Amino acid sequence: MAQTYEEMDAIAMLKADHRKVEEIFAAFEKATSKSKKQALAEQACLELKVHTVIEEEVFYPACRGKIEEDLLNEAYVEHDSAKLLINEIEAGGPEEDFYEAKVKVLSEMIEHHVEEEEMRSEGMFSQARAAGLDMDALADAMRARKMTAMEEFQAGKPAVTLTLEGDDTEKAMMDTPMGGDAR
Ligand SMILES: [Fe+2]
Ligand SMILES: [Fe+2]
Repeated sequence: MAQTYEEMDAIAMLKADHRKVEEIFAAFEKATSKSKKQALAEQACLELKVHTVIEEEVFYPACRGKIEEDLLNEAYVEHDSAKLLINEIEAGGPEEDFYEAKVKVLSEMIEHHVEEEEMRSEGMFSQARAAGLDMDALADAMRARKMTAMEEFQAGKPAVTLTLEGDDTEKAMMDTPMGGDAR
């Protein structure tokens, strides 16, 4: 009875991503070995990078002008704050003093952000649904972008912020195989 990923509409897809990342963070909390923790943290970072890209390039632009402006702008900034931590976590490792703290804080930031997206009636997804966005067309566009984003990030591209000044994303971009392909 469960929907496959291919059958999901945009909101179901994004929610499925949220649940997946929550499971990875829960597994991180339970993991005891450093190597297992690192593997899980990196998996969470990869999933989050792909998720933020499909929201920022497909879902959020479709919401612009259709839902509360403040909520949407805050979502972009929340993504960017998370990306700074994501890039730190990916560049670091579990032998670092603050590694676990960074992962924990990232999980808390994401928890708050997901709540704002999923909240009943005032949340972003509810507002988007009420505005009558074409959730099937958006799902198709996000599925397609998800595949290319996954390849880019697996090749080592860091998360790229859109709203923050003064981060060194650009410098980080130069050190990767995707060098300079900023979006
Ligand atoms: Fe999301
Ligand atoms: Fe988001």
